[in-house]
Amino acid sequence: MIHTIQWSDAGVVLIDQTKLPTEETYLTCADYIQVRDGIRDMIVRGAPAIGVTAAMGVALGARDAAASNVAELRAAWNHICEVMAGARPTAVNLFWAIDRMRVKFDALAAAGNDVAAIRAGLIEESKRMHADDIAACEAMGRHGATLMPERGGVLTHCNAGALATAGYGTALGVIRGAVEAGKQIHVYADETRPFLQGSRLTAWELMKDGIATTVIADNMAGVMMRQGKVQAIVVGSDRIAANGDVANKIGTYTVAVLAKEHGIPFYVAAPTSTVDLATPTGEGIPIEQRDRREVTHIAGRQMTPDGVGIENPAFDVTPHQYVAAIVTERGIARAPYKESLKKMVDEANVEAGTNHR
Ligand code: MRU
Repeated sequence: MIHTIQWSDAGVVLIDQTKLPTEETYLTCADYIQVRDGIRDMIVRGAPAIGVTAAMGVALGARDAAASNVAELRAAWNHICEVMAGARPTAVNLFWAIDRMRVKFDALAAAGNDVAAIRAGLIEESKRMHADDIAACEAMGRHGATLMPERGGVLTHCNAGALATAGYGTALGVIRGAVEAGKQIHVYADETRPFLQGSRLTAWELMKDGIATTVIADNMAGVMMRQGKVQAIVVGSDRIAANGDVANKIGTYTVAVLAKEHGIPFYVAAPTSTVDLATPTGEGIPIEQRDRREVTHIAGRQMTPDGVGIENPAFDVTPHQYVAAIVTERGIARAPYKESLKKMVDEANVEAGTNHR
């Protein structure tokens, strides 16, 4: 079991994903600013993991805020939530998680709880979100396993695994589910330039589980498909628009287009917390632009001439027409996604007793 995110009295403990695969080290974020920085600097990354970390981060902030009454705590709380929401822009799980924590704060305050009880309730809620996320991934694994081939190659892009969630993973959860169901899967992991989540993280965690894995450079995906080595593709997502357009790691769109050309099903696995019904199409999804140095340098060594133009969008959007199915914890959504996704999100809201998204 990989411990991506853990609550401790000393703070939020994160496996440092910038150090993997060569060093397995853990960092304790002792206050909510350090948690925000950990998300921004990609110590922790991956949409569901960002959400759970942020929930624990705001709970930590509330625990340590100077406040002698509920009004003072609320003022501090609003500031803490705003700071946390500035960590990264694309993964909607960040905003979903902060909203869910805000709803909890309001419910605790409305029930007449004092400062100590509100603080305790927020910590409990963040721990519940951690457990819920693992359960959601395991459910995605069971549903998605049915889509995987009995035997053959499955290509994935970026890391949508235990390291990108509270545990088990979304896309890698589907692969784990298939392997647990007895299917013989060989994973092709795109290395995922420029941050190398595929070669550093996906390969690391799949090898820990003994799942057969081959890392390929991103520009090899097409030829692997043409050679018949890939029977299915499964990726995660940072935000899915109401119409089923999928934002995910830069390069995902290229993979989806290649998949269509070769007649290979392209699947997305993501919890309903990644579905953003308030954003009608992928056009409205904010795409994070990251530092040029991620492209200009590899392991500290300069790879481009001084002053050259650089683009570094962290994500792209795959139009829903390319997506064969979207696996959530509630089952398998098919086109038209506008209807199938809405139904699943509505069901999730009813079960959670909230309607805050
Ligand atoms: O920039 P990152 O590493 O946070 O990007 C992560 C991805 O693109 C993942 O595929 C996505 O968040 C889904 S994680 C289950």
